[in-house]
Amino acid sequence: MKWIYSVSLAVSLAMQPAFADDLFGPHPMTEQARDAFVNQLLSKMTLDEKIGQMRLISVGPDTPKSAIRDMIQHGQVGAIFNTVTRQDIRAMQDQVMQLSRLKIPLFFAYDVVHGQRTIFPIPLGLAASWDLDATAEVGRVSAYEAADDGLNMTWAPMVDVSREPRWGRGSEGFGEDTFLSAQMGSSMVKAMQGKSAADRYSIMTSVKHFAAYGAVEGGRDYNTVDMSPQRLFQDYLPPYKASLDAGSGGVMVALNSLNGTPATADSWLLKDILRGDWKFKGITISDHGAIKELIKHGVASDPQDAVRIAMKSGIDMSMSDEYYSKYLPGLVKSGAVSMAEVDDAARHVLNVKYDMGLFNDPYSHLGPKESDPQDTNAESRLHRAEARDVARKSIVLLKNWRETLPLKKDATIALVGPLADSQRDIMGSWSAAGVAKQSIPLLQGVRNAMAGKGTVLYAKGANITDNKGIQDFLNLYEQAVSVDKRSPQELIDEAVAQAKKADVVVAAVGEAQGMAHEASSRSDLVIPESQQKLLAALKATGKPLVIVLMNGRPLTVVKEDQQADAMLETWFSGTEGGNAIADVLFGDYNPSGKLPVSFPRSVGQIPIYYNHLPTGRPYNFAKPNKYTSHYYDAVNGPLYPFGYGLSYTTFTVSPVKMSSRTMPRNGSVEASVTVTNSGKRDGATVVQLYLNDPVASISRPVQELRGFQRIMLKAGESQTVKFKIDVDALKFWNQKMQQVAEPGKFNVMIGLDSVRTQDAQFDYL
Ligand code: BGC
Repeated sequence: MKWIYSVSLAVSLAMQPAFADDLFGPHPMTEQARDAFVNQLLSKMTLDEKIGQMRLISVGPDTPKSAIRDMIQHGQVGAIFNTVTRQDIRAMQDQVMQLSRLKIPLFFAYDVVHGQRTIFPIPLGLAASWDLDATAEVGRVSAYEAADDGLNMTWAPMVDVSREPRWGRGSEGFGEDTFLSAQMGSSMVKAMQGKSAADRYSIMTSVKHFAAYGAVEGGRDYNTVDMSPQRLFQDYLPPYKASLDAGSGGVMVALNSLNGTPATADSWLLKDILRGDWKFKGITISDHGAIKELIKHGVASDPQDAVRIAMKSGIDMSMSDEYYSKYLPGLVKSGAVSMAEVDDAARHVLNVKYDMGLFNDPYSHLGPKESDPQDTNAESRLHRAEARDVARKSIVLLKNWRETLPLKKDATIALVGPLADSQRDIMGSWSAAGVAKQSIPLLQGVRNAMAGKGTVLYAKGANITDNKGIQDFLNLYEQAVSVDKRSPQELIDEAVAQAKKADVVVAAVGEAQGMAHEASSRSDLVIPESQQKLLAALKATGKPLVIVLMNGRPLTVVKEDQQADAMLETWFSGTEGGNAIADVLFGDYNPSGKLPVSFPRSVGQIPIYYNHLPTGRPYNFAKPNKYTSHYYDAVNGPLYPFGYGLSYTTFTVSPVKMSSRTMPRNGSVEASVTVTNSGKRDGATVVQLYLNDPVASISRPVQELRGFQRIMLKAGESQTVKFKIDVDALKFWNQKMQQVAEPGKFNVMIGLDSVRTQDAQFDYL
């Protein structure tokens, strides 16, 4: 590890001999050296200083900078979040070096969920790329920019599997599938942490929200989660485990309760599973205010009780509440919490600081003061090319009737809709330090693409919503949604007038970014009524209609699917979103995205997910029977299935070839297909492998994703795609909660979505 000795540190160390002399290395980056160092450091710390390390605070109205300075001086804070410039971070680290007794560096964290300054597509969109290289690219760039701002940790990736589109936070995760989420999460962790979280341009990750937050009842945020142990271990825990196996240094603990126990109070989850079974060595951090919330959850009688329970359950660091600082001293004094327990928690904090390289150089992500950027938001600090590349890959073509797309650049295009010119919305929620003014809205992207060739006619057409209550909700903390004062009819009339002059209409509709966020649960999934009315009026013009959806969750778009000649799902595609969508609209990029979530036809179908269990009375569409599992007022099955997405070219998939009809015990078999680009354009697609265990000791899902490969094929080109299937792919948690692979027949399904597959079988011996 390179020893960078900053000027301010050198000055402050000269002023403070004490322990600091041997505090700052260089220290070898080994576990053994770390443990020896941290033990020695702990032996020099007072109880208050240890408790101070366990406190994580956000700079804000409740804790202004002056209060933080005071806390730093008294060793009462271990880490800071929501501070994102080198100047601010340096000032605080300077205070540690100049004012505190032990000079234990702070670490600095932030929600770098899909970019820091350059904003990439929301994670749900990234998942639609099914591209692990793109994921790694997002991770590397995000870590680079975050580290370049002085940060050491991110609260990401979020790997909460969610089958609940009403939940606004599905936008932050990788969709409904366990396997895809696990792959995405572990790629992100590896890319962000690089070779070492201590490196100049790496940051440490903190996987969240442990556990099963994506399954909140009714999709209402912060609500209860209740599920069988089989489902928890089979479907919800693996992405966290995979991200930890990839080396994540941190875990953020969920706000919800799981089977009655709030995660923050769950020693089974945090100790037995996380540290015991999974051998996690890093740091656990409570979510915002979660320790206090144990009282409202009804498991703690008062603040002391909440702190005692959180400590006993294995919460190392408390986020944004003062409870540890206030109540731990008394609890240690009374013996309710032991010094060993405090030591353990403080040790985990100090360990990660060591792993971040902060004891070699507290300024390692800051560099010398002179190197600070003149302008934090400078254009030169962005990674636009990478953002555009990933955003294109995240876009899913849902419908393309009679090859409406791609559009011609010399056409006259009416571009309408409340999202067509919104720089804020295209970035999505949790857009970190991204600046809306630097993002390319769709209107700009289309203009860039058509420059000097065709004509763009723009009209807003509608407000995001005409519901005043929802407008106020969206503008609660920032002026995020601008409301046009004209009447809905005036807005529509203007759009229709533009449409009538155009060859084709492109309507950018969907959700404002604030509709798919924390605390943004919906009880309905429709496009808001104001926009539905706009679409109806546009449809009535008889012009070809291309719908560009922007949203952070599956929407119920049955009607829109009927109205549209072509439809694109573009999620919230980030800083370069407008250019990326234009690339797809005009065919400069052939869409290749695949849905990481099922799109329901109506809210009433929820939960709807592709890897469901069979029932004893399956509904047969060809031979309907009253006493079978279905709704009498709706069709079974989603509007668009998991894994679905079209291309401007066509692909064919050959029958599956098995390397053997049998798989030996603990061995493997290979399944392969030949995929041919049978159309006229080059294009990429995602080949998906699903397995099914048709007869097992417990019911097993009708299909489960067990592999995928993204391939690029020139027009006319073919490629054989091979999947190795080993015993791990067959395993599941049985009724006795043992992880087993049971001998017998297995079905193999390979296709370009979860429905249209080529099928084969093998026997596991
Ligand atoms: C969210 C976390 C987030 C934290 C810090 C909480 O409200 O649940 O996901 O990391 O705030 O911003």
